[in-house]
This record gives sequence, C-alpha cells and structure tokens, in this order.
Amino acid sequence: MPNTAKIIDGKLIAEAIRGELKDEVAMLARRGVVPGLAVVLVGNDAASEVYVRAKRKTCLELGINSFDYDLPPDCTERRLLDLIRDLNEDGRVHGILVQMPLPKQIDSGKVLLAIDPRKDVDGFHPVNLGKLLSGEPCFVSCTPAGCQQLLLRSGYDPAGKHVVIVGRSNIVGKPLVALLMQKAPGGNATVTVCHSRTRDIAAITRQGDILVAAMGVPEFVKADMVKEGAVVIDVGVNRVPDATKKSGTRLVGDVDFAAVSQKVEAITPVPGGVGPMTITMLMKNTVQAARTFA
Ligand code: GUN
Repeated sequence: MPNTAKIIDGKLIAEAIRGELKDEVAMLARRGVVPGLAVVLVGNDAASEVYVRAKRKTCLELGINSFDYDLPPDCTERRLLDLIRDLNEDGRVHGILVQMPLPKQIDSGKVLLAIDPRKDVDGFHPVNLGKLLSGEPCFVSCTPAGCQQLLLRSGYDPAGKHVVIVGRSNIVGKPLVALLMQKAPGGNATVTVCHSRTRDIAAITRQGDILVAAMGVPEFVKADMVKEGAVVIDVGVNRVPDATKKSGTRLVGDVDFAAVSQKVEAITPVPGGVGPMTITMLMKNTVQAARTFA
C-alpha cells in the first residue's frame, strides 16, 4: 500500500519560527536589548552534552547571548543554588536553563524552585505550571509548545478535536493536557491521557483525532492503535540497535512509523519532527523573557 500520509516537517516549521525570532531579536537590538540565555550543564551525561551544545549553537545563530556554565559531576547543590541566585540577579540574563537530569547529590526540585519564574524559560517552575493550569500568561515548557505549533502550522487546529496523549510526564504529557484544553486559540480540545496503568489502551488511542505519543517506549504505537485519518505527533526519541548502521544504532520514535503512516492523515517523523521544535520554542521563550524585562 502506498504511503499517503502527509509528513509534518518539524525542521521546516522550526526554521520559519526562527526566521520570525531573528526579526524580533533585531527589533530588540534597536532598543539596546540583546536577549541572554544562561545554559547550565552539570556533569558529563553524553545526551545532555549534545542537547546543550545544540542550544548554545542556536542562540548564536539567532543573535541571542548564551552564557555558558559547565559544572563538574561532583558539584554540590549549594554551588549550583549560588550560581542560580547570581543569574537571577544578572540583568544580562533573561532566561535560565538548567539541563536535566542532574547528578544524584542535587535535588532537582529545589533547583527548579530557585530559578526566578520570570526567567524560567523551560516552564518547569511550579509557578509557571500553576499559571498554565489556571490559564494565566506564563512560560510554557518547550516540547508541549512545540507540539502545539506543529499542529497549528500544518493546519490541524486542535479546537473541538479529541486529542489522546499517551504519557504523563511532568515535562510533556501533563503540561500538554493543560495547553490543549485551554480556553484559548490553539486549545479547546477534548483531551484524554493514557499511561502505563491504562486498561485497554488501544481502545482509547483509536478514538484520537489527534494522537500524541510521549511515553518513551520505542515504536509502541502500532497501526491497530490509531484511527484511520488521524494526525499523529511522535515525541519519542529512542536509540535502538541497528546492525546496518555505521554507529550500530538508529533513532526511532514512540510510533511504528512505517506501519502507522499507511493509515493516518499526517504524522511527524523521528528525527525531524518534534525535536527541532523544542529548541526553537526555548529560543522563543528567551526572546519573550527579554521583551518582558526590556
Ligand atoms: N532534559 C531533557 N529535556 C529537557 C528540557 O527540555 N529542558 C531541560 N532543562 N532539560 C531537559
């Protein structure tokens, strides 16, 4: 059967948003403001190093100042909290990002609480999560915001649609529920959440006009779990063994792309779907922070 699904190109959509951001950065520059993002990496987790490098590089591309802090794996909680206090007070820094996960001697909840919510461009601070839930303006965490933009900019407004989200993480599933059920443009969806304790998950995912897979299990969503003509957003990033690749591995999402793409209206690929959007939304939040402070 031919593959008829529309591929939602996250790279292209991210590029369009970055173009808009460049214009905004230029406008701020005329007012003497250069957006600044502090990117804090603690330890040497390989995946975190890759993400942090990409975030710093994107700052450079857009004309955003990146203030880089690389702390050793044995860094104390005190030292990190002291750094955050300094960054909270630093007028050149509009956004603060502490890459997760943190080494085990550091309480990440305490660290997130220490960040000034007005500089919390990751949207992880409980104040921002609370504001999101109550529909007040706030920083929205980057992956959920990226999923929403992918839908809107490919012509799939979630309003009135049944969105089924698989996964209930604090950084994707939970904030995405709040975002898509919001009484606001880009929201107004009917949202159902499934997770590892959901009974007969396929019966529920099959009801989704829009299905978001964000549970972190490689190729979990099979063709019989999706409704014909659905729109599928795959948040998963999983490295699996592949002997045909030079590296010995390849990236797959949480959706069985080859099978599911035969049945649906549109789908995001992995890589090249949600991934490029996450960093772009971080940059958008940083520019928004700079605008607020300016
Ligand atoms: N680790 C994995 N994803 C993220 C993210 O979006 N932000 C931060 N700070 N750490 C992460």
